[in-house]
Amino acid sequence: MIFEFFKHITISAPDYIKKMGYLKEILSIESRYKRFKIDWDRHLKNSKEVIIDALKMARNRRRVVVLGSGLLLDLPLREIASFFDDVVLVDIFHLPQVEEAVKVYENVRLINADITSTAHRLYISRPKPKTELPKEQPFFPECDSHCDLVISLNILSQLPIIPRNYLINELGWKDDEDITNWEHYIINAHFQSLLRLKCPVCLIADWELTYLDKNDVEIERHLTAPVLRDVEPYRQWFWRLVPIGYESKQYSVELTVGAFLFENSELLVYKET
Ligand SMILES: C[S@@+](CC[C@H](N)C(=O)[O-])C[C@H]1O[C@@H](n2cnc3c(N)ncnc32)[C@H](O)[C@@H]1O
Repeated sequence: MIFEFFKHITISAPDYIKKMGYLKEILSIESRYKRFKIDWDRHLKNSKEVIIDALKMARNRRRVVVLGSGLLLDLPLREIASFFDDVVLVDIFHLPQVEEAVKVYENVRLINADITSTAHRLYISRPKPKTELPKEQPFFPECDSHCDLVISLNILSQLPIIPRNYLINELGWKDDEDITNWEHYIINAHFQSLLRLKCPVCLIADWELTYLDKNDVEIERHLTAPVLRDVEPYRQWFWRLVPIGYESKQYSVELTVGAFLFENSELLVYKET
């Protein structure tokens, strides 16, 4: 906790990244990963395996864009850097240690960008409760005709979380239907933009969250990305996000994660050849 706090103060980042809570969230992912490594490893390994499978979809090896590169925990960077000429890693913020880690690759670039196009706008415009919320189109840098694969990496359900908390905790919004609809808008807009891309896409995203008791019996579940509920995944697995005894002695938290491979607006379960 103290370590996280110290890092938060000493790392230089744009105002909105710190004040809205993006930096705090990245630092918290880092410390949760250290604490829950055993529980997270299978999920990280599965994500990497799916990405390696997805390389087969790329017809050329010019560029791959990764949306949600974060701490690079779930990304087989060495493999994709040796496969593609140009590797573009996009996140709202990359920690200095990530900048350091990618320096060994001549063909890896980092881009710090808000892929929803709404976070900074929200921070600047500070919309009052019950007014219009920003509905910009997503911004996917470098996903143009030179791009041969786009990977959306464990980011989809995360996109509305910090903006939502900011609206409620800082701007006085009520946690009501307006906010829920806007959250769905952000998630759906990301998904639809991926479907519209002209190159193959690998989407890895959680879509359901379950609370389990100490005997692993379900207590409650809800959808984290409703748009994915009825979409057939290429692979699916469970990610024990928080083991029992950390957030609560009564429950652990588990995510259902799906991997979806598709191309040309059509969602396909990619078949091995
Ligand atoms: C659960 S993490 C993904 C895991 C990540 N691949 C890793 O290994 O750390 C979600 C990531 O989404 C990023 N993120 C959240 N909202 C974003 C936005 N609007 N634009 C770009 N990145 C965002 C966070 O900074 C975080 O790194």
